[in-house]
This record gives sequence, C-alpha cells and structure tokens, in this order.
Amino acid sequence: MPKLANIILIGDGAIGSSFAFNCLTSGVGQSLGIIDINMQRVQGDVEDLNDALPYAAQKNIYAANYHDCQYADLIVITAGIAQRPGQTRLELLKKNAQIMTDIANQIMASGFHGIILIASNPVDILTELVLRITGLPRNQVLGTGTALDSARLRSEIGQRFNIDARAVHGYILGEHGDSEFPAWDYTTIGGKPIQDWLPAEREEETLDEIANTVKTAAYSIIDKKGATFYGIAASLTRITAAILGDERSAFAMSVHLDGEYGLHDVSIGVPVIIGETGMDRIIELDLNKQDMQRLSDSATILKKNLQEVLD
Ligand code: 2OP
Repeated sequence: MPKLANIILIGDGAIGSSFAFNCLTSGVGQSLGIIDINMQRVQGDVEDLNDALPYAAQKNIYAANYHDCQYADLIVITAGIAQRPGQTRLELLKKNAQIMTDIANQIMASGFHGIILIASNPVDILTELVLRITGLPRNQVLGTGTALDSARLRSEIGQRFNIDARAVHGYILGEHGDSEFPAWDYTTIGGKPIQDWLPAEREEETLDEIANTVKTAAYSIIDKKGATFYGIAASLTRITAAILGDERSAFAMSVHLDGEYGLHDVSIGVPVIIGETGMDRIIELDLNKQDMQRLSDSATILKKNLQEVLD
C-alpha cells in the first residue's frame, strides 16, 4: 500500500482530464481532487469519470477547492494557456506566469507542504517561478521538463529500428522547447550505443533527423489536431506513479540546479531519481564539451526569459 495517495489536479483542460482518466484506469493514487476556474466543467468531468469507477482501480475522484490542498501528498498543475499552431512555449510565459503565481499563492495559503509537479508551459521557467514563490525545498517542486521529449526519443528510435521502445534508453536534456538536445553519448538500444547500430556514413544525418523529429513533435501534433495531451498526460501519470510508489525511477525532468552541471538558479531538464520525496537525487552525466555548452546555452535562454517576467 503506497504511503502517498492523495492527488490534487489543478487545471482540468485536455491535459488535466486525460491525466485524471489515466490515473483512474491505471490505479495511480487513492484519491484525485480536481480544481479549475471552470468548476462546472470539473463537476461534469467528475461525474463522467465516476461512471468508469466499476472498471477502474482508482477509488475517489471529486471536485476540490484550494482548502483541500492541505491534505494532498502531490499537486499536479496543468493550468494555463496552451500553444497555438506555430507558437513557441516561451510565448506562453507572460500569461501563464500570472496564472501560476496566483495558483502557487493559493496552494501555500492552504498550508500545503507536499510535492508539486508542473506540466504547464513553458514548464522549466514556471517550475523555477513556483519554487521561488512557494519557498518549498527544491526536491518538492518539479516540472515534467524533458520527460515527454525523452519518451518521444525512445518512441522514435524504437520505430526506426523496429525495437520495443522500452529497450531504448536515453535522455533529452535542457529546455522543454527549442533549445533541447539529445545526450547521444548516453543513448542505447538494448544496452548497445545507438552509434553502433548505424552505418558510420549515415550516423550524423540519422541522429540529426531523430533529434529534429523529437524537438518538433509538439508543433507537428498541434498543427494536425490543435493541441497535445495524451503524451504529456502519460508522462505525468508515469511520474506521479513513481512519486506515490516511491519507485526511485530515473526521468529527465525540470529541477532546480544548485551547482550541478556547473549551473545555478535555473530549473532545467536533467536526469533525476524520483521517489516519495520528489527529486531524490540529480544524476550528473559526464557530458562532452559540446553537450555541456548546449545545456549552458539552454539555461541562459531560460534565465533570460524568467528575468523578463520578474522585472
Ligand atoms: C508537448 O510537448 C505539452 O509541451 C507539451 O506536448
């Protein structure tokens, strides 16, 4: 029986409701309270989700309010505006920083002292903003970061090589956005470096193709269906299960760095171990010079954009 079980979801849009449905059907958590600015929609979602209870493993889904946050072990935040076709995640910052500031203040006014997991974009900057507003320890304020991008990397490689994506391991690092990059030195298929699966003359071109497909995945999906939600909801559910179940699993997520990778005062996508305390530890890869520079450049973009909303 997991020790942590009570989730509050803030944001009941396409991502939030997909996450709620995924938790219900996969039995992640014992209870899930939903908060949104549109509480009529929440009531409808709660009634709709409860219709699945006979077939579900979740126990209790309800319309919540910020007072309920004090009893939550984990708060998942998906609230905010989403990318429109062609729009970058950074372009959402001004509006979503305002929304996130209000949410963070209301959460802390409840007496909440658990873990916060953020998916709203631009997720790295909003994670850093919530960390600073709440004053919670850095292990308790996490962003999905490049967890979804890393899942996309594994999926893309699995499809290209016709191998189960679960046999592919690797990380996308940096901003969950246009400055992200794959750590190719740590990407393996069946434990064998990806470079060993490619003919030397095709290696660079193929790796660049894969990296670009992953980086532009959200733009491609948004162009076709107007939004992304199943991929990010699946990543949110997987991370939530790791927290509530104290799994100590590895993910690339947005966490506040305090000297790791030579970086300070920024939340950015790096490999971490996730458990009941949130971020259990940061995995410091021995990145090559080029990748260290890419991570530093990505951090500079994030810090510059955060400063613009703080000024
Ligand atoms: C994505 O890449 C929502 O940013 C998220 O799909």
